[in-house]
Amino acid sequence: MLIRLIYVSKVVDSQSSQLSESILKKAHAWNTENDITGVLCEGQGVFLQALEGERGAVTRLYSRISADPRHTDLELIHCESITERHYGEWSMAHVSLSDVDPQTKIVWPEFNPYSASGLLVMTRIAELIAQGRTVTNAAA
Ligand SMILES: Cc1cc2nc3c(=O)[nH]c(=O)nc-3n(C[C@H](O)[C@H](O)[C@H](O)COP(=O)(O)O)c2cc1C
Repeated sequence: MLIRLIYVSKVVDSQSSQLSESILKKAHAWNTENDITGVLCEGQGVFLQALEGERGAVTRLYSRISADPRHTDLELIHCESITERHYGEWSMAHVSLSDVDPQTKIVWPEFNPYSASGLLVMTRIAELIAQGRTVTNAAA
């Protein structure tokens, strides 16, 4: 059974660009091997990550990520059974929230993932991906 899980957390270290590089490297290797796909949005002090894959694999990964001391205040935003992946092209896409163009319609400063519903968060992520330029694949 496939599931999609989304959580938000706060970055512990301010060196978040180096941190996300090392996370994405690890994520690409492990996620590819375990058929996990997803997107990691990072910036403005938060991580917002969607994970998709077999329920057991996602649960194991989420449990490992939850124990990672490089972030804190982790909150589960959304979890559902799915028949189709949203992020199937990416072992872990990366969206840098700091790079989001202020001219775009996406207003991240007014968007607090800690109080938003899972559906709204998924819509926001889809909007970011639709811009294309902010997404890089961990495989690259
Ligand atoms: C925000 C965040 C997202 C992460 N995403 C992934 C991921 O998608 N896949 C992965 O294998 N590790 C991910 N990690 C790294 C794991 O937490 C963990 O460090 C890594 O899997 C190595 O685990 P181990 O030291 O127990 O082997 C992430 C870490 C953080 C802080």
